[in-house]
Amino acid sequence: MRIVDLIIKKRDGLPLTKDEINTFIVRYTQGDVPDYQAAALLMAIFLKGMTREEIVNLTLAMAHSGDVLDLSDIIPYSIDKHSSGGVGDKTTLVVLPLVAACGVPVAKMSGRGLGFSGGTLDKLESIAGYNVNLSNEDFRRLIRQNGIVLSGQSGDLAPADGKLYALRDVTGTVPSLPLIASSIMSKKIAAGANGIVLDVKVGRGAFMTNLDDAQALAQIMVDIGVDAGRDMVAVLSDMNQPLGQAVGNALEVAEAIACLRNGGPADFREHCLELASYMLRLAGQGERWTDAADVRQQLEEHLANGQAFARFRQMVAGQGGDVRMVDDPSLLPAARFIEPVSAVRSGFIAQVAAEAVGIASSELGAGREKKGDPIDLAVGLMVHVKVGDSVQPGDTLFTIHANDLDKLAACRSRLESAIAYSDTSVEPLPLFYGTLYGR
Ligand code: URA
Repeated sequence: MRIVDLIIKKRDGLPLTKDEINTFIVRYTQGDVPDYQAAALLMAIFLKGMTREEIVNLTLAMAHSGDVLDLSDIIPYSIDKHSSGGVGDKTTLVVLPLVAACGVPVAKMSGRGLGFSGGTLDKLESIAGYNVNLSNEDFRRLIRQNGIVLSGQSGDLAPADGKLYALRDVTGTVPSLPLIASSIMSKKIAAGANGIVLDVKVGRGAFMTNLDDAQALAQIMVDIGVDAGRDMVAVLSDMNQPLGQAVGNALEVAEAIACLRNGGPADFREHCLELASYMLRLAGQGERWTDAADVRQQLEEHLANGQAFARFRQMVAGQGGDVRMVDDPSLLPAARFIEPVSAVRSGFIAQVAAEAVGIASSELGAGREKKGDPIDLAVGLMVHVKVGDSVQPGDTLFTIHANDLDKLAACRSRLESAIAYSDTSVEPLPLFYGTLYGR
């Protein structure tokens, strides 16, 4: 089979067969297909799209391009969650211990942040000593021992996706629904999930800026999961404004801990409860946790009675982290300069642009421009207003946590431009726009 023939076929809008897709992925992963041919094929896919069958075949080929995690000897039914990425999204830090507290083992592999979107691994590294690079053996030992583990990839999962994603990044082919959906789902399938809850963000701080695109992406991913024999839930959630208040690594860990101690911002708590309840309902497989109100009550109880916090603490201890920082988040890395940004007029908040807030935090040093860049775990900002709030001049809109005065000044002006005021009242933004199911 000649790769050029696959490129021509896709260029002319014809569907590729399973065999053709498999051959391409296997040969590209081995280094037998040059990047210029892979790039041409990606562009043809970008322009001509793929059928549902092609997308499923591409996903499975990528999922099987490296190690496939099989935890079935430890967890008979493995549940996973995935967020399409956002600003202030520290949900994993809360939902994992919350679900574990209900007796469901959770083993999750997370990623690092890129651009203005944060990553769970970076956040966890705010806790001194926390090891995100577990060996396969340690990953399995911890899940067996504690029923909860949260680390970076152990093993070589979906290497084809890693290579193709890097190529997409420099060939203008990232924003393609078949390519995004297969990329995300290949990693979830390789990580051995039986049930997957997808948190698909929509809005100005998300990959998908409008609801139609987000819905289409969610539907494709649900379809892939179903065709691959997985149970799926996709939640469409708002990312026009940041989630919760904290944006920045150590600040977000502190906020997650506050939530696990039954506090924290209301929108973040609600978001976590919603996602955790879908995870539990998947884990129950129609036999347990079938009643939504009951599930909700159990989850709230585990926040109130300290069980969820205890599971987080246990996870940190298991992975070598300093639990004193969990018990007392003021010990987490802290910035030298802490300054408020105040409202300049009265009115109703019409916008807290998530993208601008994310960039502001990233430019303080909390995020990275390119893979491997160092980050400053202490810096970031707190967002004190939500769309719809009414403010008076001098009210605090944000608190900046910086380690550099020039960066602090730049952050301040970016944050000022993130806010829009209205003289008339403004409806608060919804947290969720809908849910898709697939079994
Ligand atoms: N996240 C991924 O893992 N892949 C994409 O293509 C986009 C977002």
